[in-house]
Amino acid sequence: MRPSPLEPFVDFDDVWLAYNEELLAAEQFAVESISLQAAPGEFIAIVGPSGCGKSTFMKLATGLKMPSRGNIRIDGQPVKGPLKITGMAFQSSSLLPWRTTLDNVLLPLEIVEPHRSNFRSKRKEYADKACRLLAAVGLDGYADKFPWQLSGGMQQRASICRALIHEPKMLLLDEPFGALDAFTREELWCILRDLWAEQQFNVILVTHDLREAVFLADTVYVMSKSPGRMLARRDINAALPHPRELEVTYTKTFTDVVLELREHIGAIRKTPPTGTPAVSPAPRREAPAVAAGSLR
Ligand SMILES: Nc1ncnc2c1ncn2[C@@H]1O[C@H](COP(=O)(O)OP(=O)(O)OP(=O)(O)O)[C@@H](O)[C@H]1O
Ligand SMILES: [Mg+2]
Repeated sequence: MRPSPLEPFVDFDDVWLAYNEELLAAEQFAVESISLQAAPGEFIAIVGPSGCGKSTFMKLATGLKMPSRGNIRIDGQPVKGPLKITGMAFQSSSLLPWRTTLDNVLLPLEIVEPHRSNFRSKRKEYADKACRLLAAVGLDGYADKFPWQLSGGMQQRASICRALIHEPKMLLLDEPFGALDAFTREELWCILRDLWAEQQFNVILVTHDLREAVFLADTVYVMSKSPGRMLARRDINAALPHPRELEVTYTKTFTDVVLELREHIGAIRKTPPTGTPAVSPAPRREAPAVAAGSLR
């Protein structure tokens, strides 16, 4: 059953995760008390210090890890195992060096049903689709090249195509542009912005780059030091409505939002490593909505 338009697409209800039984018994959680909802098609970004639990959040969102406590629903369904409706891209492009760019992009279709069963008969159709995606990210003419013949930025573009080829409803990006130079990164922001505007999938982007988060996302969440909690939620759209052009990143409004988030991160960095968060934890979802920009 599809959720109604008013129902969240991503719904974390007081989610806690300890990585194993021993850690659970010792009450050592990687993430704690995460309550978060994202509407269908919403682009959220998560920022926070290294080791705070961002990748753990991703593993929970895609069903690779089950919560120790709390509930997760994605697309109206309780998460019971790895989800097929997601596409993922990481800091390293992780393309297979022995496959061409085209064959790397086609990989999910060879693995994920229902495409897997049709792969042989529909290969031409799938290859055409992959080539259209490659063209959309500026890789026209690179389908037959191997990953080692591509620059780092080109490899990342190809990995985004691979994440999107099976038309996932949710795209999970864990520091996808972290290893790229500033210009290539901005180019890829625009490519991602355009693909998202066209295809309307949900996005969860983990990044250390506050400008990237503010430029791309509808909503930015700031996580505390480990154990990770959501400390702040910032709605970006009121200040910076879509569509956003790169020029917006040079405006005072944009810089103000980035600085506001930077202050949250600065406050977190000042807390002692094992201490409780400096800011009060996120309220349960029954609590009134948080005003844009305010700390939870
Ligand atoms: N498989 C695992 N088993 C046990 N603990 C783990 C495992 N994976 C991660 N952790 C712990 O969970 C916490 C959160 O890790 P996570 O990888 O989610 O952090 P992160 O925010 O993604 O960090 P980074 O920004 O460095 O990528 C860390 O304390 C880490 O040591
Ligand atoms: Mg990580």
